[in-house]
Amino acid sequence: MLGQDLMKRLAARHEALGLDLPETDITDPVQVQQFFKRTNPEAVIHAAAFTAVDECERQPELAFRVNAEGTRNVAHACREEQLPMLYVSTDYVFDGEKPEPYVEEDTPNPISVYGRSKLQGERYVQETLDHYWIVRTSWLFGLKGKNFVEAILLKAAAGEHLRVVNDQVGAPTYSLDLAATIEQIVERGGGGVYHATNQGECSWFDFAREILRQAGADQVAVSPLSSSELDRPAHRPRNSRMRNARVEQEGLSLLPPWQDALGRYIASRPSSDEIRR
Ligand SMILES: NC(=O)c1ccc[n+]([C@@H]2O[C@H](COP(=O)([O-])OP(=O)(O)OC[C@H]3O[C@@H](n4cnc5c(N)ncnc54)[C@H](OP(=O)(O)O)[C@@H]3O)[C@@H](O)[C@H]2O)c1
Repeated sequence: MLGQDLMKRLAARHEALGLDLPETDITDPVQVQQFFKRTNPEAVIHAAAFTAVDECERQPELAFRVNAEGTRNVAHACREEQLPMLYVSTDYVFDGEKPEPYVEEDTPNPISVYGRSKLQGERYVQETLDHYWIVRTSWLFGLKGKNFVEAILLKAAAGEHLRVVNDQVGAPTYSLDLAATIEQIVERGGGGVYHATNQGECSWFDFAREILRQAGADQVAVSPLSSSELDRPAHRPRNSRMRNARVEQEGLSLLPPWQDALGRYIASRPSSDEIRR
């Protein structure tokens, strides 16, 4: 999802080359290095991951192979070719117990296999490279990928009764907006850890209601649900809120409010008429 929006965003002012399965597998260090040698990039943005959070609990070895070792392979290839690298990471590196939004300096303490594997990826990047960026984001939605917005609209169109968790709070983030911020971060130079999300906050329940409202389907009923009732394999942080402190301090553009991002997303999705019954 994010990779495709990065390609779209970067293509306007840069020559952007995508790396993806099956052509290049980041778990194979030789393939990664050969790709960089062949294409000779100026910088690398690494957004590949095993992102199915519950599936990571069932397949922890695969999660670590892709998210941690795969990231180490990308970092080593960058060191070899003297390339700066941006690694996309996640709010799931935090345990969610902090009462306030997380800042970049807060100590991670992941509570899921996915979070631990992504944090290990961060550590490999930091150990391997002098010039890197780690950009943590949250609750991504975008036109090219499975996401919560589509899941809600699909269920609504199927006439299903919606039950959505209301005890996890975070910031939904449009992958196209994030791609623009990533471009700015790389162009600025510098380095280190950044938090980048659309502005504002909500629970998944609030997010679902706003999706339906903006899609013209606010007649569809949604009931709140607790995380313990949902009982999914992976624990999720209760608080996923992250202050975009460095983006702000460095004068980069803050991402727009999430409701605005959602509006643009809904307006541009191909099947926006589906649930206007
Ligand atoms: N989605 C979110 O809510 C969220 C939140 C916070 C952070 N993030 C982070 O943001 C980044 C982008 O997420 P996303 O939602 O855009 O993920 P996505 O849609 O799942 O895309 C991940 C991409 O990585 C590819 N990939 C998986 N294993 C690979 C391998 N071994 N070698 C090469 N490519 C491989 C996948 O290919 P296949 O499709 O063929 O498997 C897919 O194209 C990830 O780093 C993720 O951890 C995501």
